[in-house]
Amino acid sequence: MKKIKFEASGHLYENMDELPQEDRCLMEEAIKATQSSYAPYSQFKVGSALLMEDGTIITGSNQENAAYPSGMCAERVAIWKAGATFPNKKVKSIAITANSPHKIVDRPVGPCGACRQTLLEYEVNQQEPITLIFMGEVGNVVKTSSISEMLPFSFDGSYLH
Ligand code: THU
Repeated sequence: MKKIKFEASGHLYENMDELPQEDRCLMEEAIKATQSSYAPYSQFKVGSALLMEDGTIITGSNQENAAYPSGMCAERVAIWKAGATFPNKKVKSIAITANSPHKIVDRPVGPCGACRQTLLEYEVNQQEPITLIFMGEVGNVVKTSSISEMLPFSFDGSYLH
């Protein structure tokens, strides 16, 4: 037996103004996308924006449902929209943000486990990492260079064939 360590690394920015221009523009699209959030139950409005390899931007927002589990996160709305619209285009990066009328979201909002798993599927298929950039409404921004980094010992299709 030996002890092992698994850790993610990335960059922490003081706020979005510090981001490289391409990332900042993508985050601005994610912020705009929160406006289309349908979150009457949680009021937690999440926006996401994907940058495709050719510069196309695809946005998503969370869509809730009176039958709570039937709602969907912003990240999966966006990645499935991308997959369904441009099945052959690679995804370069995804920006995520959230805001709420109840409190200022001042910590980075990382994608939930199910969204990480869903994003991983696309990252594995395209054989190129997807950069993840996430923040709250204000404050620090986290940037990591791949989805797999955020999911150690992840499960993917390679186990099945
Ligand atoms: N939500 C997202 O859209 N993305 C996440 O990664 C975490 C949670 C949404 C789902 C639900 O509409 C609301 O935030 C509260 O959980």
